[in-house]
Amino acid sequence: MSPMKKLTVHDILLKKSSNEKLTVLTAYDYPMAFLCDNAGLDIILVGDSAGMVVLGYPSTIPVRMDEMLLFVGAVGRATKHSLITADMPFGSYQTSINIALDNAIKLIKAGSDAVKLEGGSEISGTVKALVDSGIPVMGHVGLKPQTSVLWDGYRTQGSTMAAARKIISDAKSLEQAGAFSIVLEMVTDEVTEIVSKSTAVPIIGIGSGTNCDGQVLVLHDILGLYRQIKPRFVKRYLDLSEQIHEALSNYINDVRSGVFPSKENIFHMSEDEYSKLKDTLGKEDRMNE
Ligand code: KIV
Repeated sequence: MSPMKKLTVHDILLKKSSNEKLTVLTAYDYPMAFLCDNAGLDIILVGDSAGMVVLGYPSTIPVRMDEMLLFVGAVGRATKHSLITADMPFGSYQTSINIALDNAIKLIKAGSDAVKLEGGSEISGTVKALVDSGIPVMGHVGLKPQTSVLWDGYRTQGSTMAAARKIISDAKSLEQAGAFSIVLEMVTDEVTEIVSKSTAVPIIGIGSGTNCDGQVLVLHDILGLYRQIKPRFVKRYLDLSEQIHEALSNYINDVRSGVFPSKENIFHMSEDEYSKLKDTLGKEDRMNE
């Protein structure tokens, strides 16, 4: 249905040089990925945020590879245009480069075009190994939900000179390792600007201001489908929870009152077949009397 061509990593890189802002959202299932793709989104991120907004985990830490593979497969089947990037879940890339490679290959075989890993210079060796094996990698620095929650929770990153320098050097080492883009999460506007200007690859912000090359948000946040947490950086475009609640109440009322199903929802036998049926049933009843 999508008339647009499939985007490649090369197309994504070109958008930075042509000053075109990148549009990125998460999606985890067939119908939502279909809608995102059809709307012309540049990148669909099969984020491990799925663990929270779809599976109901309290953080992204419990998310497993088998769960990610299921989401990636569904998104892959729906997507004709957007570049798909899949999060490598916590524990799937830290223990060894070979394990990271095996898991990244599984995500690519399931339908993703690229993978995303959280971390800076400490994972640059892994990023390089993946890229050398032909797997496009998106980096993720600043707030790293897989581990930040273990240290100091969800806080703004890059507020001090030392923290800012660490983010800037992490982004540099990811670029040098071959990452094709980098997510900056909850980073101060000043640091975002420095990182964006000093790297050739697109910097995609989430809660990191406007001085970057594109924006990413969690789909369920912008649609009002996940209301447990509402970060200040989220813009809600719809309140689907409210609309779904109303639709469900209407359905319950319709079933209870007999308004549903109505004439157009009901299937009938032909009159001929129905009268034959009644005749045979009548004969059987009489034989049993
Ligand atoms: O998992 C996710 O959705 C993400 C975005 C918040 C960038 O990593």
